Amino acid sequence: MARKILVIHGPNLDLLGKRQTDVYGKTTLEDIDKELLLLAKELKFDVETVQINGEGEIVEAINRSKGEFEGIVINPGAYTHYSVAIRDSLSAASIPVVEVHLSNIYSREEFRHRSVIAPIAQGQISGFGKDSYLLGLRAISTILNSSRTK
Ligand code: DQA
Repeated sequence: MARKILVIHGPNLDLLGKRQTDVYGKTTLEDIDKELLLLAKELKFDVETVQINGEGEIVEAINRSKGEFEGIVINPGAYTHYSVAIRDSLSAASIPVVEVHLSNIYSREEFRHRSVIAPIAQGQISGFGKDSYLLGLRAISTILNSSRTK
């Protein structure tokens, strides 16, 4: 059975390619998902992608992932900076998590410099546009492959 990774795009990422293109670029979420699925094939994982605006719905998706997915790549959007609820559900999932951001959150407004998710993630990739997601997927596949051989 194929091993599955869940990719969660948080709030407002459905507007990608239309909002603040100076910050987030012109790539759409569809483009990113297509590239993720291609890379997943190469890495021999099944990837499911979802875009969710609501905090509670993200928590539910994470809680539902148990048993079905081996790892999560998440761009929590603005929730990154304050959602203890999303952090707690990721912790409870007890599977590897990689946090990704299109923009470099540390070069932007001060309120974006803090991530409440990062301390419970395996790591964070920030600032490489759509490549942050692709790097995130590579990172989690490496983590999952190495945890199998341990
Ligand atoms: C973001 C950075 C967040 O600060 C912001 O609220 C977003 C997108 C990023 O991908 O760069 O919605 O997560």
